[in-house]
Amino acid sequence: MLKDNVLSALENERPNPISGQRLADRFGVSRNAVWKVIGQLKEEGHRIGTDGRKGYYLEEESDRISEAGIRLFLEQEKDLSIQVYDSIDSTNNEAKRRLGAGESGNLLIVSDAQTAGRGRMGHTFYSPEHTGIYMTLSVELSSPLYQPEKITLAAAVAVVRAVERYLEEPLGLKWVNDIFYKKKKVCGILSEGITDLETGLIQHAIVGIGLNVRPGDFPEELVDIAGSLDLTRPDRNRIIGGITEELLRIYRDLDDEEYMDTYMEHSIHPDLVLQYLGK
Ligand code: BTN
Repeated sequence: MLKDNVLSALENERPNPISGQRLADRFGVSRNAVWKVIGQLKEEGHRIGTDGRKGYYLEEESDRISEAGIRLFLEQEKDLSIQVYDSIDSTNNEAKRRLGAGESGNLLIVSDAQTAGRGRMGHTFYSPEHTGIYMTLSVELSSPLYQPEKITLAAAVAVVRAVERYLEEPLGLKWVNDIFYKKKKVCGILSEGITDLETGLIQHAIVGIGLNVRPGDFPEELVDIAGSLDLTRPDRNRIIGGITEELLRIYRDLDDEEYMDTYMEHSIHPDLVLQYLGK
């Protein structure tokens, strides 16, 4: 689709401009068609600037989540199906609905906001628009998973590896699914599974990650416990792509427990990790 192609091209060049003519030539359409989709992308909330004859550019601050933007940061995951929403009840719920409707393969569901974000033990997860990342990766498992908690541990490590380079201080991992920054919870992970009742094996792991990225206000009951990474950069597509890439890499071989070294290094309670590892 022309709109996705133009957005990918702009993402690729960001923040440098590309002329309407170059875009038109590249995609075999008229300059008018390019101009039209630029208008549509702006209407959707992408911040696209114009630099005289040099053309269109994606502003550095443009932070709209999009499939094209995420794919730029996925090196090997061409078969991954990606769905992006402005708002949805819960990305975990959507993954389950899609699996229930017969979708197969690995799925990534991302939303800018959630109206019924779920946490562990029936808690709700506060999911306001524009400031966070609410994503669910559903992975089709090809071999039996005997220690399901590995799914959550690996997700925490994927978040650390994708975002820590942008932070002033290290992240802290609280067994098993919470991530802390500057003494406040900034990320929660909710892992669920679809089990084959005949074999008793988990067929799909559904990993939901909620990460507070941008500065923002929390409701009174959360002010003392919840925080954010306080990052204004990079754009959320890059972070989502980075987490997904890392997560799929670890899931390809969960038995290679090198990721547990990173978990251990960041753990707030290393004794619990040692206990888990039987050491
Ligand atoms: C927790 O803190 O207890 C876990 C929170 C998990 C929140 C994420 S946001 C994306 C996904 N969709 C949900 O409804 N929950 C998870």
